[in-house]
Amino acid sequence: MTEGIRPVVVRTREELRAARAALPGPVAVVMTMGALHAGHAALIRAARHEARSVVVTVFVNPLQFGPAEDLARYPRTLDADLAVCAREGADLVFVPTPEVVYPGGDPEVRVGAGRLGGVLEGAARPGHFDGVLTVVAKLLHLTRPDRAYFGRKDAQQAVLVRRMVTDLDFDVEVVVVPTVREPDGLAMSSRNAYLGADERRAALALSRALRAGRDAGPRGAAAVLAAATEVLAAEPGCQPDYLVLVGPDTLADVPPDHRGEALLAVAARVGATRLIDNLPVTVRAVAGPAADDPQEAR
Ligand code: PAJ
Repeated sequence: MTEGIRPVVVRTREELRAARAALPGPVAVVMTMGALHAGHAALIRAARHEARSVVVTVFVNPLQFGPAEDLARYPRTLDADLAVCAREGADLVFVPTPEVVYPGGDPEVRVGAGRLGGVLEGAARPGHFDGVLTVVAKLLHLTRPDRAYFGRKDAQQAVLVRRMVTDLDFDVEVVVVPTVREPDGLAMSSRNAYLGADERRAALALSRALRAGRDAGPRGAAAVLAAATEVLAAEPGCQPDYLVLVGPDTLADVPPDHRGEALLAVAARVGATRLIDNLPVTVRAVAGPAADDPQEAR
């Protein structure tokens, strides 16, 4: 692919303010922690199509990593990241240090993710979503976009960002972009780099399980979970943490007689690496007596 025009790279608040003021609107922002892959590229591309100017932020946010997590070994590949930003047509890349983002050290006042921040990923990673929302809020204030793009790969994060924007009246439109996958189905993630060859093979069970669950959608919620569970359990290299069918906005388990849209979400440990994935599922029918809904018979 050809190189685009190099984006302007800014590192301080002052540089960002000046460069941002010169951008024609509407302005889109794509927030990342770097180690950019095709998933991030799809976000930048979507932003490029739908806005006049695109700002990418590259910042490994210490606030969202737990004490035992991979902050120190998180991949840092700035040159390659800038090449992706150039290729996808970003106008401005903000690459701050922790001192620029948190000039007073760890912030005393933070955004609380609430109940939605304590389930699923939040249950496994206490405080994670408070750290995510706090930095997202700060980066929204600093970049002042009209639109902000997030990936469905991190569905809970996207739900929480939407809730923050609604609940705290941020003047920005949140756009969620579908998950980009490897040809064999594995969801793109910077964590895939940690997988050995056998683990990489075992990791395919996540997307395989989600597809099996989605295909069972017409047979009802229980069938979706049973089909996905069976596939996941057949892969000994995968230790599941959760596999749930939840409301796309509530993240609460759907009732057995649920009809309509739902989110099938999975987290599993493959070797030392924790992976997540999800797929929207249309649950079309209900098995058993509940199917005799008089509304439906009309
Ligand atoms: P990061 O993991 O770098 O992801 C940046 C954005 O890319 C997120 O919106 C994420 O959902 C999206 N993304 C990652 N993999 C994707 C894939 N395979 N397909 C589509 N989109 C994908 O998420 C974060 O960083 C951080 O929490 C951040 C929001 C930047 C706050 O620090």
